Amino acid sequence: MEQQLREIEKDALSAIDRAQDSKTLQELKIKFLGRKGRLTSILKSLGSLPKEQRPLAGKLSNQIKTRIEKAIQKRLEALKDLVPGPELIKGFDPTLPGRRLPPGHLHPITQVLNEVCLVFEKMGFSVAQGPEIELDFYNFEALNIPPDHPARDMQDTFYIDDKVLLRTHTSPIQIRTMEKMSPPVRIIAPGKVYRCDSDVTHTPMFHQVEGLMVDRNVSFSHLKGILTHFAQEVFDKDTSVRFRPSFFPFTEPSAEIDIQCVMCRGKGCRVCSQTGWLEVLGAGLVHPAVFRHVDIDPEEYSGFAFGLGIERIAMLRYGINDIRLFYDNDLRFLNQF
Ligand code: FA5
Repeated sequence: MEQQLREIEKDALSAIDRAQDSKTLQELKIKFLGRKGRLTSILKSLGSLPKEQRPLAGKLSNQIKTRIEKAIQKRLEALKDLVPGPELIKGFDPTLPGRRLPPGHLHPITQVLNEVCLVFEKMGFSVAQGPEIELDFYNFEALNIPPDHPARDMQDTFYIDDKVLLRTHTSPIQIRTMEKMSPPVRIIAPGKVYRCDSDVTHTPMFHQVEGLMVDRNVSFSHLKGILTHFAQEVFDKDTSVRFRPSFFPFTEPSAEIDIQCVMCRGKGCRVCSQTGWLEVLGAGLVHPAVFRHVDIDPEEYSGFAFGLGIERIAMLRYGINDIRLFYDNDLRFLNQF
């Protein structure tokens, strides 16, 4: 009997020592001292012992019971010290309401990109996409820019290897689209493009939206009408737009389209290089050589294409005089949009 009692005491004390919360201690109290507990069962069986052994066993049982109760009490106190209640943590007031995190918002360039796409979508253009890591073939060759063509100098290219590069414009999507689709085609293709270029109006990564419309009897006047409507939707009805003759190997005739500089209202400043105008897009009628690359008969079909620079539109829209501000990640700047 004595050995049984010592074993119960040993088990109880080591379990109490390991207990990590008051719930476990409560369970241990029931396990050892409850009505059906291990120690209580022994106390109940004392009557069956020989008369002369009973007082000693009774005394020992009571001593063990007291020691277990004390150990539980002591462990409870120790746990309280280990895990302080919230009221004990300095400077913490659990009754205060939580602090709101300021909601984020779309980057100004994404906002303008979405808006520009919407203007064209309303005119019936659907959105197409292409890879940013592009083959030389789609970026240059299929666009009538052969390996030795001087027009390759117009775009400083980030090459990955001889045949693979970071696309320098969204025009390769024209080819990828016409390979898959026969006319009529009416798409816009927004995306990032890359050039080794950096100053107040140029960044090494910027966004373009390509436009392509191919059908029978598409003419330059369709292009002019659509782009004028676009400029008046994104800016206002009085926005002056200028079509300037230009050259792109993949369009003929070609034009560059300028919008009056909002910084100086056309008087001339640093942003518009004293010209009063800011170039926002290149455009033209699809060159017959491009059609031949994708098996479209240039005698039967004609089309126009354009590629506009989103950062330039955003600069004009918000009166920003340095394009690089968009990518400095300065929240004081970005939070204004
Ligand atoms: C092109 O990229 C032609 N692919 C556009 C085109 C498409 C012509 C279809 C004909 C038919 P360009 O290099 O001019 O053209 O660039 C078009 C526009 O991108 C420019 O008008 C300008 O708004 C913007 N842009 C060009 N380089 C940068 C740059 N480094 N940073 C920011 N914007 C730029």
